[in-house]
Amino acid sequence: MSESKIVKLVDESTNRSSELPLLSGTLGPACIDIGTLYKDTGHFTYDPGYGSTASTKSAITYIDGDKGVLLYRGYPIEQLAEKSTFLETSYLLLNGELPTKDQFSKFEHDITHHTMMHESLKDFFKGFHHDAHPMAMLAASVASLSAFYHDDIDVDDADDRKLAAIRLIAKMPTIAAACYRYSIGWPFRYPRNNLEYVDRFLHMMFEVPSEPLELSPVAAKALDLLFILHADHEQNASTSTVRLVGSTGANPYASIAAGITALWGPAHGGANEAVLEMLQEIGSADKVETAVKRAKDKNDNFRLMGFGHRVYKNFDPRAKIIREMTHKVLGELGVNDPLLEVAMKLEEAALKDDYFVERKLYPNVDFYSGIIYKALGIPTEMFTVMFAIARTAGWIAHWIEQHETPGARIGRPRQIYTGADVRDYVAADKR
Ligand code: CMC
Repeated sequence: MSESKIVKLVDESTNRSSELPLLSGTLGPACIDIGTLYKDTGHFTYDPGYGSTASTKSAITYIDGDKGVLLYRGYPIEQLAEKSTFLETSYLLLNGELPTKDQFSKFEHDITHHTMMHESLKDFFKGFHHDAHPMAMLAASVASLSAFYHDDIDVDDADDRKLAAIRLIAKMPTIAAACYRYSIGWPFRYPRNNLEYVDRFLHMMFEVPSEPLELSPVAAKALDLLFILHADHEQNASTSTVRLVGSTGANPYASIAAGITALWGPAHGGANEAVLEMLQEIGSADKVETAVKRAKDKNDNFRLMGFGHRVYKNFDPRAKIIREMTHKVLGELGVNDPLLEVAMKLEEAALKDDYFVERKLYPNVDFYSGIIYKALGIPTEMFTVMFAIARTAGWIAHWIEQHETPGARIGRPRQIYTGADVRDYVAADKR
């Protein structure tokens, strides 16, 4: 981290000025540190959507949106996707280094032994109607963990923070599977400690009392890879939400629950569900042209879901990996999904269309992931829940980093007030 004072901002109307340090990280463009701007000049900055604003320093994930690069703790996503596992990647995100064999065994043991939900948590589900969206149930259940683990957690204690991380990564699949099973009226399944993380989840999702479940290594590998790709993505909307809530000193479970609700929106993690619905609505490759036309029409609020990204102005590297893997997984599972053809045609049409080319709109991580989830038998409403299981590793890594950063302050943006000027109260009979 280097710092040099070179940016000077002068307000010519008042002659007040501010010398603003330029901060450089390991990679990426330098940032103007505007921390003293208000004190020096009496002005705030205005940046709706935070397109030009870095909210924090972070050593977890790096994205170069122009080149289509994504690094977790310095490791390219392509290498992690090929060689790592979701649990190892989670360890990396949390601790900054890949684990040794012993470190990994301990981590896996800890995760495996915190997978059960409190029995009382099961009763929460009974309060939901059977057709409640699983993301609503997930957010509420994770928020309720703060009621189970509130009194004994000290957010300033490193061991307590670590325990919260372990509990969250461990319990998220158990709660997620319970959301699904509740919605279809199946009895909940306890986590099986003899299974690995992803197989344990698939078992909790799909095992029925009447017959044994045969777990598919192809399905487990595909899901594990999707989890790696979704594990973190620097200061996206849900992670920034976790940090904002965390900055108040809130309990980690409450902070992560807030992240889950932010993820749910169709502009963010909810896009994977929206992509599948869109492909189903398009229905066949010959209707792709009409869909592209609609997406370009500013009077139509239809957008190509799974296309575009705030940071990537090139191919999302995760989309590249998933695209390749979709063909392989569907082939290995013997699934022939006509939606894959629709998706490929749509991608082809958009990538050569001036509207998408000029705006640098490429397929993002969510474009193909739904087709794989569908092939694995995961219902559409559960797609964003899958994303949440994986992103929990990133959210909690950021929450921990935030609490380890000295001098951290509560997140509190300012505004440009556009309401009424000062005026006097008028009595009801005079209005
Ligand atoms: N279809 C059609 N037009 C689009 C699309 C799209 N998917 N995305 C952006 N545009 C247009 C937009 O209308 C605007 O056009 P103009 O300059 O003429 O006004 C221009 O491209 C820039 O778009 P923006 O909305 O200013 O870009 P943003 O950075 O604020 O939004 C986004 C990024 C991801 C929300 C947006 O691209 C989008 O809504 N995409 C579809 C939803 C989606 O796939 N979301 C998943 C994102 S990746 C995973 C994740 O973050 O969870």
